Amino acid sequence: MKRLEDIAFAGKTVFLRVDFNVPLNEKGEIRDDTRIRASLPTINYLLSRKARLVIASHLGRPKGKVDPKLSLRPVAKRLGELIGREVILAPAVVGDEVERLKKGLGDGQALLLENVRFEAQETADDAGFAQKLAQGIDVYVNDAFGACHRAHASIVAITQFVREKAAGYLLQKEVEYLSRAVHAPEKPYVAILGGAKVSDKIPVIQNLLGKADHILIGGAMAYTFFKAQGYDVGKSLVEEDKKELALEILKKAQAGKVDLVLPSDHLLATAVDKDAATEIVSSFPFPADRMAVDIGPKTADQYATIIATARMIVWNGPLGIFEIDKFAQGTMKIARAVAEAKATTIVGGGDSIAALEKAGVSGRITHISTGGGASLEYLAFGTLPGIEALK
Ligand code: 3PG
Repeated sequence: MKRLEDIAFAGKTVFLRVDFNVPLNEKGEIRDDTRIRASLPTINYLLSRKARLVIASHLGRPKGKVDPKLSLRPVAKRLGELIGREVILAPAVVGDEVERLKKGLGDGQALLLENVRFEAQETADDAGFAQKLAQGIDVYVNDAFGACHRAHASIVAITQFVREKAAGYLLQKEVEYLSRAVHAPEKPYVAILGGAKVSDKIPVIQNLLGKADHILIGGAMAYTFFKAQGYDVGKSLVEEDKKELALEILKKAQAGKVDLVLPSDHLLATAVDKDAATEIVSSFPFPADRMAVDIGPKTADQYATIIATARMIVWNGPLGIFEIDKFAQGTMKIARAVAEAKATTIVGGGDSIAALEKAGVSGRITHISTGGGASLEYLAFGTLPGIEALK
C-alpha cells in the first residue's frame, strides 16, 4: 500500500475518499466534527503539495436518492472553516457541471462532491459509475477508514480506473494500531465486548478466541449467552436466533482455554427509564418484569482487575445503557480501568467513544478508532475491502 510521500501531487487532480459521515442534529447542524478533523492531516498535506482536490464522502443512508437533509453542505462549510480556505460544494456527484468544476480546479484548491450515496450505483460498487467518478482523476487517495468495510464504488471499484493510489494518514494510522491487535498483540491481551447485539460481534469473537487471553462480555449481548445456556433472563434483550452460535462460542472458548467471562452480577430495571425501579442480582431466574441494564458492581470490580493486568486492550461496545446515569456505573468503571491500564488501548464504536467522553478519559486512550463497523471487521478479518483495493 503506497503512502502519500510516495507520490508527487503537484498539479495533479486527486480523488480523496473520506468518511465525513458526521452526526447531525434536528436542525441539520453538525453535532460532532471529529471525523472531519481526523482527515485534516491528509487534506492539508495534499493542498500544501498543490494537489487539485476532489473530495468525496457519504452521509447517512439516502438509498440512492437525493435527500436535501443529507446534503454535504454543512460539511463543506465546516471543512472550509477548519482548513481556512474555500471548499466548493458540487451540486451533484457526477455529471457535466461536476466535470466543469473539476476541470476548473487550480493547484491547492478543493471541491467537495455531493453525498456519493445520492447515486444508487455507489453502494452497488458499479464499475460504470466508478469510471465516471474517476474521470479526469490522476491519483486516488483513500482516507475513509470508517467506510473501508463497504465494497462501494468510491472505495473499491474506482481503484481499477485510477493508475496511482495511496492511503491517507488517517487510514495508515488506523491500520497501524488495529493490525497490531490482529497480528502482534502484546500479552496479556484483553478484549472487552459489549453492546446490544451478539450478532454484530460474532466474527470478531471467533477471531479473538485464537488470540485474546481474556474476553470480557457485557451489555445486552451477554443475555443471549445466558439464555442459550437455559437461564431465565426476564425481559432482557435476547437474540433467539443466535443462541446456537452463542453456545458454540462458549464451547470453543473452553476448548481453546480462552477466559471468556460473562457478568456474575447484574443491574436490573423494570424499564429503560431513569425513574424505573432497579435491583442488583447475582443469580437466575430474573423476575419476569425486569431486564438487565448494566453489569453489577462485583462484575465491574472483577473486569477492572483483569483489565489492570493487560498489555493490550481492545474495547468495542458499552456494558450497559450508560446514557442513563443510573445505569452507567459499570461502563464508567470499565472506561476508567481502560484509561488507567498500562497497556496499548484501542477503542472503537460511537457508543464506547461517547462512554469514554462521559467518563472524561478519552485523552488517555492510545488509539480511538473513527470506524465502528470498520474496526470490528478489521479485528475479525485482519483487512477490509477498501484496504485490499489499494494494494
Ligand atoms: C459509519 O458511520 O460506521 C461509516 O460511515 C459507515 O456507514 P454505513 O454503516 O452507513 O455504511
